[in-house]
Amino acid sequence: RIAPVSDWSRLVRDVPDFPKAGIVFKDITPVLADAAAFAGAMAQMAAPWRGAPPDAVAGIESRGFILGAALAHALGCGFVPVRKPGKLPARTLAQDYALEYGSDRLEVHVDALPPGARVLVVDDVLATGGTLRAATALLRRQGADVVGADVLVELAFLRGRERWDDPAPLRAAKLL
Ligand code: PRP
Ligand code: MG
Repeated sequence: RIAPVSDWSRLVRDVPDFPKAGIVFKDITPVLADAAAFAGAMAQMAAPWRGAPPDAVAGIESRGFILGAALAHALGCGFVPVRKPGKLPARTLAQDYALEYGSDRLEVHVDALPPGARVLVVDDVLATGGTLRAATALLRRQGADVVGADVLVELAFLRGRERWDDPAPLRAAKLL
């Protein structure tokens, strides 16, 4: 059994000029690759929900899938994918949003969750917050009760939290 480490965030790596010149990308893959760091990160994300777990975790494609599925498993709840356009096979609802670099759309199955299901939305990084806001809005339109929005890493300098006008509480495991 791996002992989780609390200083997992030192393994988050800066990659300059990805995916475009001038963007410094926060790469979490070294955290995922290290068993003790991954365990520590997931333990930290799970801790606030242990007492009253959500009915489901909704993970945002693509890195939100990895963290969200692991968190759902840790909490013993279901997992719902929130995907980029054209990826989900059945009937979907869609939400457009502006990104730090460009614009995009998120989709969820219309019948992904029963009405009123308590859902925690998960992604890897909060930058401007546009992605997470779109996902919470989309899930609410789907009928879910969004009880929280959790990310592994919040980028303080982009001030996404200041623009967070969603009623769901926003939590970051690490502020960088
Ligand atoms: C990145 C990151 C978050 C989002 C944060 O995803 O994984 O989802 O940007 O930015 P925001 O807070 O300004 O919206 P990206 O859209 O690059 O796609 P990916 O996860 O599929 O790589
Ligand atoms: Mg993403």
